[in-house]
Amino acid sequence: MREKKISLRLENICDMVPKTSKKILDVGTDHGYVPIHLVKNKRVISAIAADISGSSLQKAKDEIKKNNLSDVIFVREGNGLQVITDKDEVDTVVIAGMGGVLISDILEEASHLSRKEEMFFVLQPVQGVEELRNYLSAHHYEMKREKLFKWSGKFYQVFLCKISKNMQPSSDEYYYELSQELTKNPDRELLEYIEIQEAILQNIKHSLLQLQHKFELNLEQQNKLESVKEKILFYERVKSNASQGFGKQFG
Ligand SMILES: C[S@@+](CC[C@H](N)C(=O)[O-])C[C@H]1O[C@@H](n2cnc3c(N)ncnc32)[C@H](O)[C@@H]1O
Repeated sequence: MREKKISLRLENICDMVPKTSKKILDVGTDHGYVPIHLVKNKRVISAIAADISGSSLQKAKDEIKKNNLSDVIFVREGNGLQVITDKDEVDTVVIAGMGGVLISDILEEASHLSRKEEMFFVLQPVQGVEELRNYLSAHHYEMKREKLFKWSGKFYQVFLCKISKNMQPSSDEYYYELSQELTKNPDRELLEYIEIQEAILQNIKHSLLQLQHKFELNLEQQNKLESVKEKILFYERVKSNASQGFGKQFG
Protein backbone atom coordinates (compact mmCIF):
# COMPACT_ATOMS: atom_id res chain seq x y z
CA MET A 1 0.00 0.00 0.00
CA ARG A 2 1.30 3.48 -0.89
CA GLU A 3 1.98 5.53 2.19
CA LYS A 4 -0.25 8.50 2.98
CA LYS A 5 1.75 11.75 2.86
CA ILE A 6 2.41 12.86 6.42
CA SER A 7 2.28 16.47 7.64
CA LEU A 8 5.37 18.68 7.90
CA ARG A 9 5.03 18.48 11.70
CA LEU A 10 5.19 14.68 11.65
CA GLU A 11 8.00 14.79 9.07
CA ASN A 12 10.08 16.96 11.40
CA ILE A 13 9.42 14.56 14.27
CA CYS A 14 10.47 11.53 12.17
CA ASP A 15 13.61 13.37 10.96
CA MET A 16 14.76 13.76 14.57
CA VAL A 17 14.85 9.97 15.15
CA PRO A 18 18.56 9.00 15.13
CA LYS A 19 19.75 7.15 12.01
CA THR A 20 21.14 4.44 14.34
CA SER A 21 17.75 3.74 15.91
CA LYS A 22 16.32 0.23 15.49
CA LYS A 23 13.22 0.21 17.67
CA ILE A 24 11.07 3.11 18.81
CA LEU A 25 8.24 3.57 21.27
CA ASP A 26 5.69 6.17 20.13
CA VAL A 27 3.85 7.39 23.24
CA GLY A 28 0.40 8.81 22.38
CA THR A 29 0.53 7.39 18.88
CA ASP A 30 -3.10 8.17 17.97
CA HIS A 31 -3.30 7.10 14.27
CA GLY A 32 0.15 5.50 14.43
CA TYR A 33 1.44 7.69 11.58
CA VAL A 34 4.93 8.18 13.10
CA PRO A 35 5.82 4.48 13.57
CA ILE A 36 4.23 3.59 10.21
CA HIS A 37 6.29 6.23 8.40
CA LEU A 38 9.53 5.23 10.14
CA VAL A 39 9.11 1.51 9.49
CA LYS A 40 7.91 1.95 5.89
CA ASN A 41 10.90 4.14 5.12
CA LYS A 42 13.28 1.64 6.72
CA ARG A 43 14.36 4.19 9.30
CA VAL A 44 13.70 1.66 12.09
CA ILE A 45 13.16 -2.10 12.10
CA SER A 46 10.24 -2.25 14.49
CA ALA A 47 8.12 -0.09 16.77
CA ILE A 48 5.72 -0.08 19.69
CA ALA A 49 2.73 2.20 19.11
CA ALA A 50 1.17 3.05 22.47
CA ASP A 51 -1.72 5.16 23.65
CA ILE A 52 -3.64 5.66 26.88
CA SER A 53 -6.91 5.77 24.94
CA GLY A 54 -8.46 2.59 23.58
CA SER A 55 -10.23 4.46 20.77
CA SER A 56 -6.99 6.17 19.64
CA LEU A 57 -5.24 2.83 19.69
CA GLN A 58 -8.00 1.30 17.55
CA LYS A 59 -7.21 3.92 14.86
CA ALA A 60 -3.53 2.92 15.05
CA LYS A 61 -4.40 -0.79 14.83
CA ASP A 62 -6.52 -0.18 11.71
CA GLU A 63 -3.78 1.90 10.00
CA ILE A 64 -1.06 -0.62 10.86
CA LYS A 65 -3.20 -3.47 9.50
CA LYS A 66 -4.00 -1.52 6.30
CA ASN A 67 -0.24 -1.11 5.80
CA ASN A 68 0.48 -4.81 6.50
CA LEU A 69 2.82 -3.92 9.35
CA SER A 70 1.18 -5.82 12.22
CA ASP A 71 4.20 -8.14 12.50
CA VAL A 72 6.66 -5.24 13.10
CA ILE A 73 4.56 -2.56 14.80
CA PHE A 74 3.10 -3.74 18.11
CA VAL A 75 0.30 -1.83 19.81
CA ARG A 76 0.05 -1.39 23.56
CA GLU A 77 -2.57 0.40 25.63
CA GLY A 78 -1.33 2.29 28.67
CA ASN A 79 0.13 5.35 30.31
CA GLY A 80 3.37 6.85 28.98
CA LEU A 81 6.50 4.72 29.25
CA GLN A 82 4.76 2.28 31.61
CA VAL A 83 3.94 0.11 28.56
CA ILE A 84 7.58 -0.98 28.15
CA THR A 85 10.26 -2.69 30.23
CA ASP A 86 14.02 -2.92 29.67
CA LYS A 87 13.37 -6.23 27.87
CA ASP A 88 11.65 -4.42 24.99
CA GLU A 89 15.00 -2.95 23.96
CA VAL A 90 13.52 0.30 22.75
CA ASP A 91 16.32 2.73 21.85
CA THR A 92 14.24 5.83 21.02
CA VAL A 93 11.08 7.19 22.61
CA VAL A 94 8.90 9.65 20.70
CA ILE A 95 6.44 11.82 22.66
CA ALA A 96 4.76 14.31 20.35
CA GLY A 97 1.66 16.43 19.95
CA MET A 98 1.08 16.96 23.69
CA GLY A 99 1.69 19.81 26.14
CA GLY A 100 5.16 20.29 27.59
CA VAL A 101 3.94 19.70 31.15
CA LEU A 102 2.29 16.40 30.21
CA ILE A 103 5.48 15.32 28.39
CA SER A 104 7.58 16.07 31.48
CA ASP A 105 5.08 14.19 33.71
CA ILE A 106 5.39 11.17 31.40
CA LEU A 107 9.21 11.34 31.56
CA GLU A 108 9.07 11.67 35.36
CA GLU A 109 6.96 8.50 35.72
CA ALA A 110 9.47 6.28 33.92
CA SER A 111 11.80 5.49 36.80
CA HIS A 112 11.13 1.72 36.39
CA LEU A 113 13.41 1.72 33.33
CA SER A 114 17.05 1.21 34.24
CA ARG A 115 18.02 1.57 30.57
CA LYS A 116 16.47 5.03 30.38
CA GLU A 117 19.92 6.61 30.28
CA GLU A 118 20.74 4.80 27.05
CA MET A 119 17.60 6.04 25.29
CA PHE A 120 17.11 8.89 22.90
CA PHE A 121 13.98 11.02 23.32
CA VAL A 122 12.29 12.86 20.48
CA LEU A 123 9.98 15.41 22.09
CA GLN A 124 7.56 17.74 20.32
CA PRO A 125 5.49 19.89 22.67
CA VAL A 126 2.47 21.73 21.21
CA GLN A 127 2.60 24.27 24.04
CA GLY A 128 4.51 24.69 27.32
CA VAL A 129 7.91 24.66 25.56
CA GLU A 130 9.55 26.65 28.33
CA GLU A 131 8.20 24.33 31.04
CA LEU A 132 9.52 21.29 29.17
CA ARG A 133 12.94 22.87 28.56
CA ASN A 134 13.04 23.75 32.26
CA TYR A 135 12.28 20.16 33.23
CA LEU A 136 14.86 18.71 30.81
CA SER A 137 17.54 21.08 32.00
CA ALA A 138 16.88 20.30 35.68
CA HIS A 139 16.92 16.52 35.03
CA HIS A 140 20.22 16.28 33.17
CA TYR A 141 18.88 15.87 29.65
CA GLU A 142 21.33 16.95 27.02
CA MET A 143 19.99 18.47 23.80
CA LYS A 144 21.46 16.67 20.81
CA ARG A 145 19.44 18.45 18.12
CA GLU A 146 16.62 20.95 18.08
CA LYS A 147 14.54 22.64 15.46
CA LEU A 148 11.98 25.43 15.24
CA PHE A 149 9.51 25.17 12.37
CA LYS A 150 6.25 26.67 11.20
CA TRP A 151 3.36 24.47 10.23
CA SER A 152 -0.23 25.43 9.49
CA GLY A 153 0.34 29.02 10.70
CA LYS A 154 1.85 28.02 14.07
CA PHE A 155 5.37 27.63 15.38
CA TYR A 156 6.58 24.39 16.91
CA GLN A 157 9.82 23.08 18.35
CA VAL A 158 11.12 19.55 18.28
CA PHE A 159 14.03 18.17 20.32
CA LEU A 160 16.27 15.14 20.26
CA CYS A 161 17.75 14.64 23.73
CA LYS A 162 19.39 12.08 25.98
CA ILE A 163 20.09 11.88 29.71
CA SER A 164 23.68 12.75 30.48
CA LYS A 165 24.74 12.70 34.14
CA ASN A 166 27.49 15.22 33.36
CA MET A 167 24.94 17.73 32.13
CA GLN A 168 24.60 20.68 34.51
CA PRO A 169 21.29 22.55 34.78
CA SER A 170 21.37 25.67 32.61
CA SER A 171 22.04 28.88 34.49
CA ASP A 172 20.55 31.07 31.77
CA GLU A 173 16.80 30.92 32.13
CA TYR A 174 16.15 33.28 29.24
CA TYR A 175 17.24 30.61 26.87
CA TYR A 176 14.56 28.21 28.06
CA GLU A 177 11.96 29.24 25.52
CA LEU A 178 14.37 29.27 22.61
CA SER A 179 17.87 28.02 23.54
CA GLN A 180 21.26 29.37 22.63
CA GLU A 181 21.58 26.74 19.90
CA LEU A 182 18.42 27.82 18.05
CA THR A 183 19.45 31.47 18.12
CA LYS A 184 22.99 30.84 16.82
CA ASN A 185 22.02 30.95 13.16
CA PRO A 186 18.93 33.13 13.03
CA ASP A 187 16.80 32.87 9.89
CA ARG A 188 13.63 34.68 8.81
CA GLU A 189 11.42 32.03 10.47
CA LEU A 190 13.16 32.53 13.82
CA LEU A 191 12.73 36.29 13.50
CA GLU A 192 9.04 35.91 12.77
CA TYR A 193 8.71 33.70 15.86
CA ILE A 194 10.57 36.31 17.94
CA GLU A 195 8.29 39.11 16.68
CA ILE A 196 5.24 37.14 17.87
CA GLN A 197 6.76 36.28 21.25
CA GLU A 198 7.93 39.86 21.73
CA ALA A 199 4.46 41.24 21.03
CA ILE A 200 3.04 38.93 23.73
CA LEU A 201 5.74 40.05 26.19
CA GLN A 202 5.20 43.75 25.40
CA ASN A 203 1.49 43.29 26.24
CA ILE A 204 2.34 41.63 29.56
CA LYS A 205 4.87 44.38 30.34
CA HIS A 206 2.34 47.07 29.48
CA SER A 207 -0.33 45.53 31.79
CA LEU A 208 2.14 45.14 34.67
CA LEU A 209 3.37 48.72 34.30
CA GLN A 210 -0.21 50.01 34.28
CA LEU A 211 -0.87 48.02 37.45
CA GLN A 212 2.28 49.45 39.00
CA HIS A 213 0.93 52.99 38.49
CA LYS A 214 -2.12 52.17 40.62
CA PHE A 215 -0.81 49.69 43.21
CA GLU A 216 2.42 48.35 44.53
CA LEU A 217 3.30 45.12 42.71
CA ASN A 218 3.61 42.00 44.86
CA LEU A 219 6.84 40.00 44.73
CA GLU A 220 5.54 37.57 42.09
CA GLN A 221 4.45 40.45 39.84
CA GLN A 222 7.78 42.24 40.33
CA ASN A 223 9.69 39.08 39.37
CA LYS A 224 7.46 38.59 36.36
CA LEU A 225 8.08 42.17 35.21
CA GLU A 226 11.84 41.75 35.55
CA SER A 227 11.83 38.46 33.65
CA VAL A 228 9.64 39.92 30.88
CA LYS A 229 11.99 42.92 30.52
CA GLU A 230 15.04 40.66 30.33
CA LYS A 231 13.41 38.42 27.75
CA ILE A 232 12.54 41.43 25.60
CA LEU A 233 16.20 42.53 25.79
CA PHE A 234 17.33 39.01 24.85
CA TYR A 235 15.02 38.98 21.81
CA GLU A 236 16.27 42.44 20.82
CA ARG A 237 19.85 41.15 20.95
CA VAL A 238 19.00 38.14 18.77
CA LYS A 239 17.23 40.42 16.28
CA SER A 240 20.13 42.84 16.14
CA ASN A 241 22.66 39.98 15.61
CA ALA A 242 20.39 38.55 12.94
CA SER A 243 20.03 41.84 11.06
CA GLN A 244 23.83 42.15 10.96
CA GLY A 245 24.02 38.59 9.59
CA PHE A 246 21.32 39.30 7.00
CA GLY A 247 23.13 42.52 6.07
CA LYS A 248 26.16 40.41 5.16
CA GLN A 249 24.07 37.80 3.36
CA PHE A 250 21.80 40.06 1.33
CA GLY A 251 23.25 43.57 1.62
C1 LIG B 1 -3.00 15.08 20.00
S1 LIG B 1 -2.63 13.39 19.98
C2 LIG B 1 -1.01 13.39 19.27
C3 LIG B 1 -0.82 12.23 18.34
C4 LIG B 1 0.56 12.11 17.72
N1 LIG B 1 1.56 11.77 18.71
C5 LIG B 1 0.95 13.39 17.01
O1 LIG B 1 1.96 14.01 17.36
O2 LIG B 1 0.22 13.78 16.07
C6 LIG B 1 -2.28 13.01 21.65
C7 LIG B 1 -2.42 11.52 21.95
O3 LIG B 1 -1.77 11.25 23.20
C8 LIG B 1 -2.54 10.32 23.93
N2 LIG B 1 -2.13 10.46 25.34
C9 LIG B 1 -2.39 11.48 26.19
N3 LIG B 1 -1.82 11.25 27.39
C10 LIG B 1 -1.15 10.07 27.30
C11 LIG B 1 -0.37 9.30 28.20
N4 LIG B 1 -0.14 9.71 29.44
N5 LIG B 1 0.16 8.13 27.76
C12 LIG B 1 -0.07 7.70 26.50
N6 LIG B 1 -0.81 8.39 25.60
C13 LIG B 1 -1.34 9.56 25.99
C14 LIG B 1 -3.98 10.71 23.60
O4 LIG B 1 -4.88 9.65 23.84
C15 LIG B 1 -3.86 11.07 22.11
O5 LIG B 1 -4.11 9.95 21.28
